[in-house]
Amino acid sequence: MIGADPAEARNLAASAKSLQELEAILGQYDGCGLKLRATQLVFADGNPDASIMLIGEAPGAEEDRIGKPFVGKSGQLLDRMLAAIGLDRTKVYIANTVPWRPPGNRTPTPEEMALCLPFLHRQVELVAPKVIMTLGGPAMQTLFDTTSGIIKMRGKWANLTVGRHQAEAVATLHPAYLLRNPAAKEQAWQDMLSLKLKLVELGLVD
Ligand code: URA
Repeated sequence: MIGADPAEARNLAASAKSLQELEAILGQYDGCGLKLRATQLVFADGNPDASIMLIGEAPGAEEDRIGKPFVGKSGQLLDRMLAAIGLDRTKVYIANTVPWRPPGNRTPTPEEMALCLPFLHRQVELVAPKVIMTLGGPAMQTLFDTTSGIIKMRGKWANLTVGRHQAEAVATLHPAYLLRNPAAKEQAWQDMLSLKLKLVELGLVD
């Protein structure tokens, strides 16, 4: 059995030459304890050739059941947020910081995220998006490698290095948070408009 060794996770992730290989490697990987309690691996959804990648926190109950990210209530809201700026899952690629559901939907621990991070970095390298949007505090903190809060950081663009890939990146609020705090939708809407403007600026949409 493969142990909970970050160096081993890095070597395994680096050995993947394609997203299919990475998914297969993760399917075999036993180093992260989250896998033991999850129903299945939740690797990705959307278009692997997309220039936009969205990164959430972790699969929930519906995602664990179906095997795809953002298919529950927050996924439905995410689809509406994307549709509001002319996007859908044929135009974006979606993954999470960890690909297995944490028990009871708790936030993944720093150790769990650290073990899964090399795989996420490799996933980003293989998709090679021009633009990344993170959803919620934990995904923002992991990708931007910061302890700052999401309320302070959201909406601020940065040129981010993820593994050996560089992309324009921005954080927004998590759709699950928006479902609990509808008043915050105004801020998320500003972030979606800012994403649309960035895509136009980069010539990625009309
Ligand atoms: N929340 C997430 O962060 N990711 C999912 O896939 C579903 C809900």
